Amino acid sequence: MLTSLLVVGVLIVIIPLYIWWKRMPYAHIPGVTQLGPFLPIKLPLVNKYMGGGAESPALEQLFRSGFVKDGVLRITACGVSRLFISDPDLIKDIALTRAKLFPKPPVYDILNIWGENIVSTNDSAWKKHRVVADPAFAENHMNYLVKESAKCINLSINRMEKSRSAFGLVINATEEMQDVTLDIIGKVAFGYDLGVFAPKDPVQPHKMTFENALKLTMTLGILVGGVLPKWARRFFPQTDIALNETELYMRELIKYRMDNLYDTGKHDLLSLLVSSNAEQIKETSLTDQELVSDVFIFLVAGHETSATTLSWMLYELMLNKHVQDKMYEEVKTVLSGLKFDELTVDTYEKLTYTKCAVTETLRKHPPVSGVPKMTRTDTTIGKYLVPKNTEIYLDVAQVQKNEKYWPDAKTFKPERFDPESSEYHKVKSCSFLPFSLGQRKCIGSKFSEIETAILIAYIVLNYEINNPKGDVYMNSKEVLQGDIRTESRITQSPLGLRVELKKRQA
Ligand code: HEM
Ligand SMILES: *[C@@H]1O[C@H](CO)[C@@H](O)[C@H](O)[C@H]1NC(C)=O
Ligand SMILES: *[C@@H]1O[C@H](CO)[C@@H](O)[C@H](O)[C@H]1NC(C)=O
Ligand SMILES: *[C@@H]1O[C@H](CO)[C@@H](O)[C@H](O)[C@H]1NC(C)=O
Ligand SMILES: *[C@@H]1O[C@H](CO)[C@@H](O)[C@H](O)[C@H]1NC(C)=O
Repeated sequence: MLTSLLVVGVLIVIIPLYIWWKRMPYAHIPGVTQLGPFLPIKLPLVNKYMGGGAESPALEQLFRSGFVKDGVLRITACGVSRLFISDPDLIKDIALTRAKLFPKPPVYDILNIWGENIVSTNDSAWKKHRVVADPAFAENHMNYLVKESAKCINLSINRMEKSRSAFGLVINATEEMQDVTLDIIGKVAFGYDLGVFAPKDPVQPHKMTFENALKLTMTLGILVGGVLPKWARRFFPQTDIALNETELYMRELIKYRMDNLYDTGKHDLLSLLVSSNAEQIKETSLTDQELVSDVFIFLVAGHETSATTLSWMLYELMLNKHVQDKMYEEVKTVLSGLKFDELTVDTYEKLTYTKCAVTETLRKHPPVSGVPKMTRTDTTIGKYLVPKNTEIYLDVAQVQKNEKYWPDAKTFKPERFDPESSEYHKVKSCSFLPFSLGQRKCIGSKFSEIETAILIAYIVLNYEINNPKGDVYMNSKEVLQGDIRTESRITQSPLGLRVELKKRQA
């Protein structure tokens, strides 16, 4: 009895002491403390500021109230301190000027289901991946993406039309956009029809279709394959099969391209990657395993981020009729009468206003709201000394909604990205970073900008995007004022977004 009291007593003293001691080297950096750890799930009182991905109201309040004065905010959770950087000059320093001092933190290991890859490595190991992958993402290879995007949205529209009822055509925007971007990434990354819009059965020796295997792998699979130990997989039998099947499919696709180097007649990313790799000398080329791991990253990185962008764009267009009308005039002029096979990157380039609208969506609703880095050594950030191995986040969301850099930041205004406008030339450098900045900038930025612009252009060409009449949630005050709640997947998308698509008279 006495001993257990003693133990409890000692713990009550030791735990706070430990937390205080861990916080010590950061005490000079302005910040806040929360009780619970940085969990991926939201627990109201426990992780008040950070947890569950979304910006919490409490965190938002800190920024609104002027608490964050020089763009550096510390949040300490259970003794662990992280810094959130929201000043463009400091972001420039970290992502560009002294990028070598700020590598990726160990949290990226969870993406190593099939081994190290382009996003989870540092320094020379990363360079090897990037050198092989860069040519595959060159703009002159993107004509294929333009055509395939247009074809996929046509398939999606045809399927959506089947759910038309007496109330018109109302879609669940996020789910629909997820399906479109998955179909595109299958075709453009693998040259493989996943059958999203034309379901198929698994073919021997497969136990599952590639589509189902991927869907499971990209959700539960990341947890089971990337976080839990190998032996724990048996408790998730479906996910275990999905992980094995995904690998099997990826290996088959790679083997086919290796066997038919240069004469597959295919234009997909994987073919480009395999031939780019074949041109490397042995020391700088990637192994089959590394190729598998990279291709998986293209899927994870390219699928949901693009779907989220599209969902937000549908939402903003629904609320901003004048933007929609202006876009319609443009897409009608550029796209009318063109066959899908006639579309090229040049067609995309002509969609100048639509491109600005995509960019403005990425400003107001960045799918990746914070870019994680860490300090390699003791160093200074701004005027603060920061110990080595501290996690640092480039706070994309906060910079991009700051009135100081983005006047009238709450307004959806594509014009601010028009190179002809005076505002465009006043944009502060490094205040726009939805794809991160510097050498570790997203390799797929052009890819997703093209994909998003083409998809939204065809939706707007065919339909007027309206708020569904009689839908209580969609007509609620918060939704109409632009404060729709968000839903946390890998990224934050608008929760329960439904839009009515009203056929335009040609
Ligand atoms: C709207 C869509 C997208 C957004 C917002 C986005 C955002 C980002 C961000 C913020 C990073 C930096 C991550 C970090 O430093 O931790 C990144 C990296 C990356 N993204 Fe994207 N991305 C998008 C689409 C894509 C697409 C379509 C692909 C491929 C098909 C892709 C592939 C990658 C890869 C491979 C990296 C790692 C690059 C490197 O470290 O060298 N992304 N992306
Ligand atoms: C990158 O380098 C840092 C510092 O050497 C290391 O702690 C970290 O784990 C590395 N990140 C990954 C994802 O390997
Ligand atoms: C889209 O699909 C419909 C129905 O299958 C087809 O009739 C139409 O021609 C397609 N659109 C274009 C521009 O090819
Ligand atoms: C949209 O989602 C709701 C609720 O999940 C569902 O009942 C409805 O059938 C879905 N509508 C369409 C067109 O998929
Ligand atoms: C998945 O693959 C591993 C190793 O390749 C194997 O041990 C395991 O039994 C497989 N699981 C299933 C469900 O096929």
